[in-house]
Amino acid sequence: MTYKVSGVPLISADEIHKRVAALAEELRAYPCDLYVGVLTGAFVFVADLVRAVGTDPEIAFVKSSSYRNGCVSCGTVTFSGLEKLNVKGRRVLLIDDILDTGHTLKELSAHISVMGAASVRSCVLLDKPARREVAFEADYKGFTIENLFVVGYGLDVAGEHRALSDIRTVTEER
Ligand code: IMP
Ligand code: MG
Repeated sequence: MTYKVSGVPLISADEIHKRVAALAEELRAYPCDLYVGVLTGAFVFVADLVRAVGTDPEIAFVKSSSYRNGCVSCGTVTFSGLEKLNVKGRRVLLIDDILDTGHTLKELSAHISVMGAASVRSCVLLDKPARREVAFEADYKGFTIENLFVVGYGLDVAGEHRALSDIRTVTEER
């Protein structure tokens, strides 16, 4: 399978920058002690967001694997790095690139709650509500998009295109 990336962005770097600044403003109203990013896709968003917020939370990452080699979700999500987190009594903000079926953030927030966090909130850059399989909504979200597969700003298809500074759509080519 090969993938074709759109020539024009769905969301420009400038739009992302402005939206991240607005999200940061919202996040300052409820400061969290620990930001937990979901690798690999969230690495760019976490880096921009935490600097825009301007507070100084602890930053950690967990690695999720639900998408293995392309556009298909496996349904169950596994996390590595959870055991290293110190969440007890702390206000935790989960950060992911995109909320799609909802499995990743629903399962991750359940784990973090059980581990004793004082509160668990979530922030995503993108939301694809049409794809939801389990009931989950993020507390903070950047953009709601149609049912499109997207890359850039950390998001990949089969490991590629994470370094684009805007968001572009991808179509499969045979
Ligand atoms: P969920 O568990 O289905 O909500 O999936 C969330 C994860 O799926 C995200 O962290 C992404 O890594 C991946 N994902 C979902 N949609 C896309 C997309 O359009 N492009 C790239 N990755 C995606
Ligand atoms: Mg991801």
